[in-house]
Amino acid sequence: MARLIDAGPGCPTPTPHRAQSAAEARGLVYDDAVRAETDHLYELVDDFITPMEWPAVAPLVAAINRLKKEKNAVVLAHNYMTPDIFRLVGDFRGDSLQLAREAANVSEDVIVQAGVHFMAETSKILAPEKTVLIPDTRAGCSLAASITGADVRLIKEKYPDYPVVTYVNTSADVKAECDITCTSSNAVQVVEAVAKEWNTDTVILVPDQYLAKNVAAMTDIRIMTWPGACEVHELFNADDVSQLRDAHPGVVILAHPECPPDVLEAADYAGSTAALANYVKDKSPNKVVLLTECSMSDNVAAENPGVNFVRPCNLCPHMKRITLENIYDCLTDMKHEVEIEEDVRVRAKAALDAMMALPKMETPLDFEVGMAPLDVEYV
Ligand code: 13P
Ligand code: SF4
Repeated sequence: MARLIDAGPGCPTPTPHRAQSAAEARGLVYDDAVRAETDHLYELVDDFITPMEWPAVAPLVAAINRLKKEKNAVVLAHNYMTPDIFRLVGDFRGDSLQLAREAANVSEDVIVQAGVHFMAETSKILAPEKTVLIPDTRAGCSLAASITGADVRLIKEKYPDYPVVTYVNTSADVKAECDITCTSSNAVQVVEAVAKEWNTDTVILVPDQYLAKNVAAMTDIRIMTWPGACEVHELFNADDVSQLRDAHPGVVILAHPECPPDVLEAADYAGSTAALANYVKDKSPNKVVLLTECSMSDNVAAENPGVNFVRPCNLCPHMKRITLENIYDCLTDMKHEVEIEEDVRVRAKAALDAMMALPKMETPLDFEVGMAPLDVEYV
């Protein structure tokens, strides 16, 4: 487990160093007005932000919350945001499917995507009349970077009879070439629905090879895939799971389905970030470990004070590009607006709409655990 930063039970992910000057450089000070607006919020993050750091954080939080009202904006915060963003300025929080559904229904004029670029594109595709801002345009994703629209066109030429499902972790260009999107909350439902619609026993699921293998283990549909991987989840392996069990007897191990199949084979439960959060809330295990991005444990721990968290930690460098400072800056200057060519947007929307039109699942998908890994063919 050398690659993992094991912060130990109860230790939160280290939050980025907070320079007092970051707020001050923006003319923001910790004055009485800020105290009045933020004092009651401190308890939401007191496990992550020390009393010494709070005067550097509170002015940014107060300013962002004021700017949201002034600009008629909302912040959509993914589960991997640090707790200051997730708990103090996020208006809607959740996994990528929940955030996409929120984006489609937002009534405010401006959406700030506290997440990565493909999530901001998804919001823009679904809510084209809104101004969608991404606080740092470099917040990418290794899965989204692994495949292009041209790649999908070649796949389609080679396999014209098979539908192509894309995980939402892809660019608008890729979505525009695919038949339907899926997320880890609904991947099996999507694969089976599209196979039925196309009257085929084979579906191509891109770009995450591990998600594809984990889906293949749960359906009779033959899955073909693409050699993409999440740079965060591919680092976990079955040895990590057994070392965690040895080091923390009785620990319940939950994994995201972007992990390789041998991790799901050894885990106790697997699902999307929303499914993992629901599991902890519903089952209240005594001791738990989430094999996913670091901040997820911090956010779930904050909502489940009775549960002990062991925190082996893989940071997503892209998610971590989003900070209170750049959320403040993008709202102040209304900068980093996401734009998508209309023809691409319309075709990408068709793939997202096809997913959204499927019956809404009552709860996110539970992935099978304990199954021997299955190999799938690559396109
Ligand atoms: P979720 O859809 O489970 O939120 O996952 C998104 C993601 O990027 C995981 O790495
Ligand atoms: Fe992409 Fe992985 Fe980061 Fe999620 S955790 S945004 S899949 S690189």
